[in-house]
Amino acid sequence: MAPQFTISSNALGRKHRISMAVHEKHLKLGDFVRLSPDQLSVAHPDGIRDILGHGNGFLKSEFYYAFDNIEQGVFTTRNRLMHSRKRKYVSHAFSPKAMMENLLQKGQAGQYVDLGQRVTAIGKLQRREDAAIDAAQWLAFLAFDIIGDLAFGEPFGFCKAGSDTNDGIKKLRDRGEWCCTVGQMPWIKTWTPYFYFDTFFVHGLHAAQALARIGIAAVENRKHAKIDPGRKDILFYLLKARDPDTGGPLPDAELKAEALTQLIAGSDTTGNTLTHVVDMLCRHPDKLRKLQEELDAAFPSPLPTDFVAPFSECQDLQFTQGILYETLRLRTTVSVGLPRVVAKGGAMVCGQFFKEGTVLSVPTYTVHRDERIWGPDALEFRPERWVGDARFPLEKYFLGFSYGPRACIGRNVAFMELKKTAATLFRRFNFRLVNPEVDPSIREGFHLKCQTLPVFISKRDS
Ligand code: HEM
Repeated sequence: MAPQFTISSNALGRKHRISMAVHEKHLKLGDFVRLSPDQLSVAHPDGIRDILGHGNGFLKSEFYYAFDNIEQGVFTTRNRLMHSRKRKYVSHAFSPKAMMENLLQKGQAGQYVDLGQRVTAIGKLQRREDAAIDAAQWLAFLAFDIIGDLAFGEPFGFCKAGSDTNDGIKKLRDRGEWCCTVGQMPWIKTWTPYFYFDTFFVHGLHAAQALARIGIAAVENRKHAKIDPGRKDILFYLLKARDPDTGGPLPDAELKAEALTQLIAGSDTTGNTLTHVVDMLCRHPDKLRKLQEELDAAFPSPLPTDFVAPFSECQDLQFTQGILYETLRLRTTVSVGLPRVVAKGGAMVCGQFFKEGTVLSVPTYTVHRDERIWGPDALEFRPERWVGDARFPLEKYFLGFSYGPRACIGRNVAFMELKKTAATLFRRFNFRLVNPEVDPSIREGFHLKCQTLPVFISKRDS
């Protein structure tokens, strides 16, 4: 066995930098790093196929126990049969036909709210034409409102209110940090209500419970709201799904757990990715210029004042797509290795034998910086690497949405949302950082997040 090292990933979870710390160990020690007595991080590119791929019988580990809310959902279940049952009915909602044709393309989903509404003066740095906003916060509002619309029949109202009503977004963040930390030692979950020595654990647990209540309320509202019965949002598909055991509707708790899964999985991920996109483009003005050239050609002036890029016209924009892939490579929202358990009888992984029950993960943060895959400019932000056919050999190493049987079910919807939003924002507005000399305020729970992103925005010619 190659050299290894044991690091306490639980302690690192509490310090909010798991993937960076694991990466530093890989740089020192090579492809195999021991995270705990029975857990290893495997950074060799073949690990993607061997650990996350189809057909190896590996299941999600007990790490996901921390994420169970209401009951096990499609994201958290560690049982193969339960997963395929859930994946089958949830996937109806995510077929490109279901989402695109019925909501986004026919315009049944609500319009995005102008991000420039709220203006907070940030003193001398501001120019006359500038508005100043916290992009991290407003993009979270936008992402939550979009998932409210796509899943529950209407936006949650964050953009309209201009504030984190009920602290819903904050709760999601606290819960993510709590889950990722508790997931390293899942047996502590039931004890965390009594961890008065560290309020992080108590707050995180309360946040998880509060979030479940928000999801349950959203399902109840949707069931009783006067919504066009033909409106095919995610809840429509979940309400229509049949329980394979009884032939009747899904049990109420299962329905709510799945709806909550979509709310959690589909909101912070996209809001956070868009925040990283804004930050990366502000830090690479040449790429921002190139993107705006592509968008100006695709959407020439004059534009209507309420312009929103139609998906049909931005889905094939090559450089826009390159920006999204490259941001998701270097600022991957889910950067932590996703733990899987070696199946019965053990398995060969990257040329090494691992006995059954060993927990293995592929460190996305490290793989996304591996020169063996991306070449000598692996650390550079170069969206061009994804343009045209060059992208195909790289895609099999791209873990932004994970890989294999547990890969993201919402990938199509996410790309649709990311493309529409990026095309609309960067066509209509100029962005610059309020504090360009300051490093991004990144902190990691289950998501690698920019905590705040103060930017100036100004209107471009329409
Ligand atoms: C930029 C946006 C997104 C990113 C980066 C992302 C990333 C991921 C990743 C890395 C996983 C694998 C997690 C694991 O194995 O532990 C995942 C799973 C999942 N995602 Fe996404 N996601 C995004 C958007 C969405 C959206 C919009 C939805 C739904 C509305 C969604 C629903 C799910 C679900 C249900 C799973 C669990 C799939 C399963 O286990 O079978 N995601 N996502």
